[in-house]
Amino acid sequence: MKLVVAIIRGEKLNDVLEALFRAEVRGLSISRVQGHGGETERVETYRGTTVKMELSEKVRLEIGVSDHFVEPTVKAILSSARTGEVGDGKIFVLPVEKVYRIRTGEEDTAAVTPVF
Ligand SMILES: Nc1ncnc2c1ncn2[C@@H]1O[C@H](COP(=O)(O)OP(=O)(O)OP(=O)(O)O)[C@@H](O)[C@H]1O
Ligand SMILES: [Mg+2]
Repeated sequence: MKLVVAIIRGEKLNDVLEALFRAEVRGLSISRVQGHGGETERVETYRGTTVKMELSEKVRLEIGVSDHFVEPTVKAILSSARTGEVGDGKIFVLPVEKVYRIRTGEEDTAAVTPVF
């Protein structure tokens, strides 16, 4: 199993959710985060100009998937979250050691995909 963590633009969230739904990806968490992606802002001080790390509002998606769902999940995010401008975000794929569905006690691959 893997945990796909994607940091995306908030205004792209609906497009990304739709693309994930079409790719049959179910089960995810969303949070609002502040992030820094290399962009700086110039700040005038009395000694001259300094730079400050810029923080921007982003949305963080966490999606636990079985291995064969990693590629469709990543592809759905790449195609739906891109504007082509700097700041489109990042996708991290992390190994997952164990997954449990609390209701049933099911483990691992049987536990990642929600039951309908
Ligand atoms: N190395 C990183 N580790 C953790 N979070 C990151 C990292 N890089 C970017 N982020 C998160 O992703 C958000 C968007 O980053 P951003 O899109 O600017 O990445 P980038 O690699 O600089 O790409 P771009 O060249 O398009 O700007 C950041 O605000 C931050 O929340
Ligand atoms: Mg950047």
